[in-house]
Amino acid sequence: MYNFEYKNPVKIIFGKGTIPSVANEVPKGAKILMTYGGGSIKRTGVYDQVKNALKDCELVEFSGIEPNPHYETCMKAVEVVKAENIDFLLAVGGGSVLDATKFIAAAALYEGDDPWDILAKGAQVKEALPLADVLTLPATGSEMNGNSVITKAATQEKKAFGSPLVMPQFSILDPECVFTLPDKQVANGVVDAFVHVMEQYLTFNVNAPLQDRLAEGILLTLVEEGPKVLADRKDYTAAANFMWSATMALNGLIAVGVPQDWGTHLIGHELTAFHGIDHGRTLAIVLPGMMNLKRENKKDKLLQFGERIWGISDGTTDERIDATIAKTVEFFESLGVPTTLPEYDVPASTIDRITLRFKESGMKFGEKGDIDYQGVEAILKDRL
Ligand code: NZQ
Ligand code: ZN
Repeated sequence: MYNFEYKNPVKIIFGKGTIPSVANEVPKGAKILMTYGGGSIKRTGVYDQVKNALKDCELVEFSGIEPNPHYETCMKAVEVVKAENIDFLLAVGGGSVLDATKFIAAAALYEGDDPWDILAKGAQVKEALPLADVLTLPATGSEMNGNSVITKAATQEKKAFGSPLVMPQFSILDPECVFTLPDKQVANGVVDAFVHVMEQYLTFNVNAPLQDRLAEGILLTLVEEGPKVLADRKDYTAAANFMWSATMALNGLIAVGVPQDWGTHLIGHELTAFHGIDHGRTLAIVLPGMMNLKRENKKDKLLQFGERIWGISDGTTDERIDATIAKTVEFFESLGVPTTLPEYDVPASTIDRITLRFKESGMKFGEKGDIDYQGVEAILKDRL
C-alpha cells in the first residue's frame, strides 16, 4: 500500500425527513445564495422544504443551472454573489448544481484574470466561499468531495478541478429524493457510481485488501440495489442503500493508498462535450473499451473483479476477461443504458475529433501513464 493522507471534513446528514435540519446547519446571520437547476426541486417539494426551513434567513435564489453545468451560467451567479454580498452558498439539486456551486464559490474569490484558468490551466484555488448542499440525485459523490466538472459551452470543453476549499460544510441526503427520479437518472447514477469505484480499483495490485474489499462491497451493493430502485421507486431501503453507495464511491476513502485510473472519465467527458450525452452513459460506453484494451495491464484486477463480482472463475485468462467484460456490459444494459457509440448516434468522425484533442494536449494517463491519444482512439473504436 502507498503512503497517504486522508481528511474528509464533510458532515453528512442522512435519512428520511432530514431536509429541514438545514436550518440548524447554515451559519447564523449569513446571507445565503440558494442555487438550483431547471425546476425539479419545485415539482418534488424539496424547494418548499428548504424555503420553509430557512424562512428566517436572508436568502437569494439563483436557478437555471443546467445538467453538465456551463461556465457561462456559473459566471452569472458569480455576479449575483458579488452584487448581493453573499457569504454562504447552498446548492439544492444533483451533481450539476453541486459542481456549479463549487465553481461559483471559487470563482467569486478568484484573484486572477479569468476564472476559467481554474479549470483549463489548473490555477490554484486559494480561497472559496463556504458552501453546503441538499442532494437530490445519488450519482456523482460531489456531496462528499472537493471535485467539480464544468463545461464551457462556447468551446465545447468539459474540464474538472479539485480543491479541499470547495468541499461542502455539510450535505443533507434524504433518500426519499430518489422517489421522484426518472428511470434514466437512476440508471445513470448507478453506472456513474459503479465506474467511480472501478477507476479506483481496476488498476494493479498493491496489497491493499481492505481497499479492494470496500470497493467490491460498493460494487456488489450497486448491483443488488440498483435494479431494486429501478423496479420500485418507492423502495426506501433500496433508495437509501443506493444513495449511500454513490457517496462512498467517490469520497476519497477507497482511493487511499492505491493507484487510480481516471481514463474512462477523461474520455467520457469528451463525449459529453461534443454530443451532450449524459455523464453516466458516456462511462458505460467507454469502460468496456478500457477493460478490453488494457486487459494486460489490468489483468490481475480484471480476474479478481470477474470472480468476486460476477462469479467468473472458469476458462483461460482471456476467456475469463471476455466473460467479465460481457457481464459488465450486460449489467449496464439491464439498467437500460446502451454501451456502444452507434446507439447514441455518435459518428466515427467524433473519434477523430476526440483523438485530435488528446494528441494536441500531449496528455498521457492511466495508472501507468501509458494511455495516449492512440490508446484513446483504440478504446473508442472498440465501441463502434
Ligand atoms: O435541473 P433539475 O430541474 O434540478 O433536474 C435534474 C436534471 O435534469 C434532475 N433531477 C435531479 N434531482 C432530481 C431530478 N429529477 C427528479 N427528481 C429529483 N430528485 O436530474 C437531471 C440530471 O441532474 P444532474 O445534476 O445533471 O445529474 P448528476 O447528479 O448525474 O450530475 C452530473 C454532473 O456531475 C459531474 C458530471 O460530469 C456531470 O456534469 N460529475 C461530478 C463529479 C464530482 N463532482 O465529483 C464526478 C462525476 O464523475 C461527474 O463527472
Ligand atoms: Zn462520474
